[in-house]
Amino acid sequence: MPIANGFLRIDQLDQEYFYDLEVAHCTDCGMVQLVNRVEPTMMFHDNYAFFSSTSQYMVQHFKSFADSILHDFLPHDPFVVEIGSNDGILLRNFAQRGIRHLGVEPSRNVAAVAEASGINTISSFFNEDCAAKIVEGSGQADALLGANVMCHIEDLHSVMAGAKMLLKPGGVLVFEDPYLGDIVEKTSYDQIYDEHVFYFSVASLQNLAAMHDLEIFDVAPQAVHGGSMRYFIGHRGARQPSSRVDEQREREARLGLELPGTFVDLRRRIEASRAHLVSLLRDLRARGKRVAGYGATSKSTTILNYGGIGPDLIEFISDITPTKQGKLSPGVHIPVRPHAEFQARYPDYAVLFAWNHSREILAKEGAFMQSGGRFIVHVPEVQILEPVAA
Ligand code: SAH
Ligand code: TMP
Repeated sequence: MPIANGFLRIDQLDQEYFYDLEVAHCTDCGMVQLVNRVEPTMMFHDNYAFFSSTSQYMVQHFKSFADSILHDFLPHDPFVVEIGSNDGILLRNFAQRGIRHLGVEPSRNVAAVAEASGINTISSFFNEDCAAKIVEGSGQADALLGANVMCHIEDLHSVMAGAKMLLKPGGVLVFEDPYLGDIVEKTSYDQIYDEHVFYFSVASLQNLAAMHDLEIFDVAPQAVHGGSMRYFIGHRGARQPSSRVDEQREREARLGLELPGTFVDLRRRIEASRAHLVSLLRDLRARGKRVAGYGATSKSTTILNYGGIGPDLIEFISDITPTKQGKLSPGVHIPVRPHAEFQARYPDYAVLFAWNHSREILAKEGAFMQSGGRFIVHVPEVQILEPVAA
């Protein structure tokens, strides 16, 4: 596999990096994780391709995330720290209210966007050392937040030790990441790529938290990113755990998340999903249909490379992120084009790689569907979406 967000120019083709993507399930602690690591600085750097605020839906999602933290947890004159603050999509909601805040974001180009809009950001990887420096410079925090970042960090123990040190006695660590239960239920194997080192469950995170004298006191499923879980963690014994934690554990037991056989079955379903998608695309091509991709997501890198799907089957991928446009997709080298090109000459089919944003995208692509164009999705199974009758 290539780097999932490693979109490249034509003159960079000979420098492309590949590694073996393999996932394992630990029968002791319940963690599902990648076997081989990719050096973090190869993924998160001065040209990181993902800008959080490209999705208006996510802008709203993070506004309500911030509102709920403010309402439920923050005392007078709080201090809020965020890990992986990207372009400031979450922290801006605190900054705008004059709340003391700090973003920790190693990818300098996205951090610069946040800083330019007045969000305090340091360009660093969050870990125990970083936490110690924050405590020294600014004191302990009331809330340590993160979204789609904890699962990226290989040295999770250092992050948890940092959280333990950084949080005030009543402070909270609140973060959300794609949820293992949804991956198993929806066969959403495209969540598996280099940046996602871990695929969390409540059970595996309870084990991790306990190792650092921390405790999950609440959980809240989220619809975003194809199914995520928000975890609320405090110092051990500091808060009364909600019944939702045990209820979610029961759901995990029903899904068999701690049984190796569950993952053997998942592999079988993943292989069947790949075979179905590839045969559908070959069939459409054989019938002379034009097929594009919609959303040059990091997830699409897994689907395309795992399926061996290249420009012979998918003509181009439409994406609204300027830094991805004009580049080639990692590994299989499908050209990424601006959305204007998609609109100028609609293809017959568009594979919805950004299926996690389907609500937002289907709402704005009515004209494509009215012109006879159809979206193809692969989650929870490969299918061509028919327009909903008015
Ligand atoms: N929170 C945003 C961004 C998620 S992308 C959102 O949900 O949309 C993950 C971000 O985490 C990237 O911007 C990446 O640079 C950053 N990141 C990766 N490793 C990190 C670490 N160790 N500490 C802090 N941020 C990290
Ligand atoms: P994500 O699935 O990691 O959030 O990435 C979504 C990608 O899809 C990102 O590159 C932006 C792109 N995109 C579009 O091209 N059009 C859209 O309407 C949306 C919501 C996303």
